[in-house]
Amino acid sequence: RPQPSTEKHRPQIHFTPEEKWMNDPNGMVYYKGKYHLFYQYFPGGTKWGPMHWGHASSKDLVHWDRLPVALYPDSLGLIFSGSAVVDSLNTSGFGKDGKTPLVAIFTHHDMKGERAKRNDFQNQSIAYSLDEGLTWKKYAGNPVLKNPGIVDFRDPKVSWYAEQKKWIMTLATKDRITFYSSPDLKDWKKESEFGEKLGAHGGVWECPDLFPLMLNGKKYYVLLISINPGAPNGGSGTQYFVGDFDGSKFTPLQEETRWIDYGTDNYAGITWANTGNRKVFIGWMNNWTYANEVPTESWRGATTIARELKLFNDKNGISLSTEPVKELAVLAKATINLPKAVRAGLSKPLNKTSLSGPYKLQLQTNGLASFSVVLSNTAKNKLVVGYDKAGNRFYIDRRAAGNNDFNKEFAKIHYAPRISAGKTISLTLYVDVASVELFADNGSSVMTDIFFPEKPLGLISVQAPAALILKDFSYTPLKSIW
Ligand code: FRU
Repeated sequence: RPQPSTEKHRPQIHFTPEEKWMNDPNGMVYYKGKYHLFYQYFPGGTKWGPMHWGHASSKDLVHWDRLPVALYPDSLGLIFSGSAVVDSLNTSGFGKDGKTPLVAIFTHHDMKGERAKRNDFQNQSIAYSLDEGLTWKKYAGNPVLKNPGIVDFRDPKVSWYAEQKKWIMTLATKDRITFYSSPDLKDWKKESEFGEKLGAHGGVWECPDLFPLMLNGKKYYVLLISINPGAPNGGSGTQYFVGDFDGSKFTPLQEETRWIDYGTDNYAGITWANTGNRKVFIGWMNNWTYANEVPTESWRGATTIARELKLFNDKNGISLSTEPVKELAVLAKATINLPKAVRAGLSKPLNKTSLSGPYKLQLQTNGLASFSVVLSNTAKNKLVVGYDKAGNRFYIDRRAAGNNDFNKEFAKIHYAPRISAGKTISLTLYVDVASVELFADNGSSVMTDIFFPEKPLGLISVQAPAALILKDFSYTPLKSIW
C-alpha cells in the first residue's frame, strides 16, 4: 500500500497515527524539552474500539515522533481520556532515585458483564512513568476516585493549585463539572460542582480543562467543556467560560455560552500541562456525528494544529482567542504576495500552478462587503470560505468539497459569528490535504472543518465586489511534517 505520508487524504501538517483509529488528545504534558501527546487509540481497527493511550512527542509542536502505545486496557477496564502532570514535589511518592514521576490520571471504563447494568462503570485511575513517558506503571490502589453512581463520570484533567499546595481534578460528570482536590493524586475529595444551569446542554459534557490565563496583569481561570451533541453547527463542540477559581469553586464572569471553535471538527481539545504562562491547545479534528465513517483507509482521525490560547477584551467582556502556535513558521516555504491589480473582483484562480501540498493563506479586507475565497482543484471539488456582511459572520461551505456521501450530516455550510468589532477583517487559513482551519481577526473567530477531495484543493480564487479592498493577500506553501 502507499506510504503513510502519501495516502489519499493523509494530512501533511497534522498529527495522525500511522494506522488505525484515534480520537481525543490525552495527557498532554511538556517535560524535558518535549511536548508529549497521548491520544485515545484503538490499535485493532479503524473504528472506535477498546481504548488505549497512543503516544507521540514533539520538540516544536509541529513535527511528531510516533512512539509505542503507552497505556493498555486491563482488568479494571479500557483507558479513556485524561491528563498527565509532572509531579515535581513527588507528592505521589512514585518518584525514585531522584527521578521525577510523570503521573497520568485517566478514566477506567469497564462495561464487562454485570457492570454494564450498573451506573458506576467509569472510575478514575492513575499510572506513573519514570522514563519521560515511554513506559508506565499503573498504581496498585486503582481506582483512586470511585464512581458514586453517575453514568458519565470521566475525563479527569488535573493541575497543581500552588496557592493551596494541592491538585485539582476537573471532571466531566454528565451535565456538569465536578471539582475534586488531592494532596497526593491518590486521595480525592469533592470540592464543588459547576454548570448544571449554565452553558449548552444539548448533550453530555466531556473532556473539561481548567487553567489560569493572565489579562492586563490579572489572573482569570478558563474552563473548557466539550459537549456531544449540541455544538452550534451540529454534533460535537467545545464551549468555554471565563471566571475565577479559588481552589474550591469556579465562578464564571459570563452567563452566555461561548465556543472555542465554530467549525464542526475540533473536539475534546485540552491544553498542555507544565508550559508556564503559555497555554497550548490541541483538539481532535473530527466530530462524533461521522467520525467512524470518514473515508480514510489505513487510519482514522487527526489532531488540529497546535494553538495558543489567550484572553482579550471585547464587547462581551473577556473572551478567549485561539491562534496557530508561532512554531509553525518552520514549515513556511517562500510566501507569494499577490499584486494589488489581481486582488479584487477575480474569480479565476490566482495561482496558475496548483499547489499539491498544504499552505497558509492570509488576507485582509476593509470589511465593506462580503467576500469568499474558493479553494478548488481540477476534479471540480471546491471549498468556499467566506465572510457574509449582512449576517456579520464567517462561513465554510464544504458541500462540494469532495466525498461527502458517507454521512448525510456532512455536506453543510457552517457559520461563525464575527466577534471582533474592528473595521479591517483579517483571515489566516491553514489548508491541509483534508482540512481547513480558519483564524479570523487575531483568533477571535475560529472554524475548523475537514473534507475529502479527490486531490488537494490547490487552486485559489477570490470572489469580491469592487467595493471591497483586499488589503493584503498572500499564500505560503508549507512543508510536510512527515
Ligand atoms: C470524548 C470521549 C470521552 C471519552 C473518550 C472515549 O470524545 O467520549 O468522553 O473518555 O471519548 O474514547
